[in-house]
Amino acid sequence: MNIIILILAFWSVSVCYSRRIDVCKPTTPDVLGPYYYPDPPLRRQICDRDRAFHGQRHLLVEGRVLDESCKPIPDARIEVWQADFGGHYLFKDKCRGHMFSGQSGHFAFLTLRPGKYSTDPTKTLFRPAHIHFRVVKPGFDILITQMYFNGDSNLGKNDSCRDCSSKSADLVVKLHEMCADNTKRYCFNIAHFDIVLKSGDKIDVVQDSDDSLPELLDIAEVGK
Ligand SMILES: [Fe+2]
Repeated sequence: MNIIILILAFWSVSVCYSRRIDVCKPTTPDVLGPYYYPDPPLRRQICDRDRAFHGQRHLLVEGRVLDESCKPIPDARIEVWQADFGGHYLFKDKCRGHMFSGQSGHFAFLTLRPGKYSTDPTKTLFRPAHIHFRVVKPGFDILITQMYFNGDSNLGKNDSCRDCSSKSADLVVKLHEMCADNTKRYCFNIAHFDIVLKSGDKIDVVQDSDDSLPELLDIAEVGK
């Protein structure tokens, strides 16, 4: 089944999972991390060159970009990047891309749930699984953040990144299962992630005071 068609087919259904935000508090910023590269390709399907892409359950991430008064923001540029299913970052465009929010502020992309990766030589410290976001719209602060997964044992105080924001509830999504038909031959997970931008012209990011170790250790795994 064509994945893009599938995304479009379930677009309206996925809106059912859109919980209304009563208070449009700006999304908590997070650390940029060492793997951001400018100008990722325009695409709504990432990690599709991962060998796991055809064997693992897909993850549809969808949500809205809103302002502080809960109005949708169209044409916001949303950049995403993540580790692949095995927890490895790659320099090329395998698990990164960008898209724009639609007129109703909606965006969506298809990927795999990212793997966790260790940030120490003995592999005892881990980051929770996460997807990085960088959201740009003129008139608003540039938001840099990360999306996490509910139930991950490395959230909050167990996150090896001390400065990261994985304890922030607004960054943690709960997955919902959706199946193409009753046979459950094709099921995937949906994560709903609304993003609220703050008016301004600054960069909303958390400075990482210890960003060298994860980068050096993980780069050794790049290219696998
Ligand atoms: Fe990361």
